[in-house]
Amino acid sequence: MSSPDDTQPTISRTDDGSPTLHSARFDQHYHNPKGALSESRHVFWEHARLPKRLTQADTPISIFEVGLGSGLNLFMLLNEIRALKKAGSKIPSSIQYTAVEAFPIPLNTAFQLGFDEVFEHINTKDVEQIFSDLHPGLHTISFDKELQVHLWAGLFDEFVPPEIILPFTTIWQDAFSPDANPDLWTDDVFRKLKRWSAPEVIMTTYCAAVRARAAMCVSGWHVARAEGALFKREMTVAALDESLLSDYKRVNEKRYAQRWADGEFQ
Ligand SMILES: C[S@@+](CC[C@H](N)C(=O)[O-])C[C@H]1O[C@@H](n2cnc3c(N)ncnc32)[C@H](O)[C@@H]1O
Repeated sequence: MSSPDDTQPTISRTDDGSPTLHSARFDQHYHNPKGALSESRHVFWEHARLPKRLTQADTPISIFEVGLGSGLNLFMLLNEIRALKKAGSKIPSSIQYTAVEAFPIPLNTAFQLGFDEVFEHINTKDVEQIFSDLHPGLHTISFDKELQVHLWAGLFDEFVPPEIILPFTTIWQDAFSPDANPDLWTDDVFRKLKRWSAPEVIMTTYCAAVRARAAMCVSGWHVARAEGALFKREMTVAALDESLLSDYKRVNEKRYAQRWADGEFQ
């Protein structure tokens, strides 16, 4: 008799009705239990300024997500693109979305999440296209005319981005917390992300940990505090061009970088 695979995530509903997963491997939820979709809209949509950027038809968009996970953020993007098109808005002719994922979820879990019911413009075929064959390596999937999805099934550390997707203009840093998933919050990670990014890049994350912000600062990112989603006090917005952070209160970047360099977070 086969025993249940206890490394596979389990599904739960969050308070806004949208689904999330719980990872036994990391002992964490993939999203805020108070509202997965509400948090994603706040952190990865509004603060990433995508509503504005997506309607600037001539601006190329290349989004990089650290952790595909359930695909919620990707389906949010695809849903918004389709909604904008339906409303007759002009959107960029080429939108690239790239994500890394070391532990892809099985297709049946992806179906059970029910994204076709959460999002008006997502159907089960979309879910199948993403999750049906995520064997290790790089997969490229085209959606509609505008969106190309590139999925690296493997560790972030082993990912080498193909030139065609560079530079990134948006980064969604959606790893598990720095305590649970420290590999994805190091200075090396943020240096790589900087190297792969365009001058106008905006990086957002739900995380407000000093340790995460310090790793960003020591790697050359400008870092600011923003109001968190769903009663969380803060989240983080980072950029290479500091003028993009003029609406936010900045952290003390020199001090944070020094604290990292002094080994306070090792
Ligand atoms: C918080 S979840 C991401 C949630 C996701 N953005 C969503 O919308 O569902 C973090 C993800 O990072 C993945 N992960 C953890 N360590 C990784 C690594 N070293 N390389 C690539 N992916 C990793 C986990 O398997 C998990 O799916």
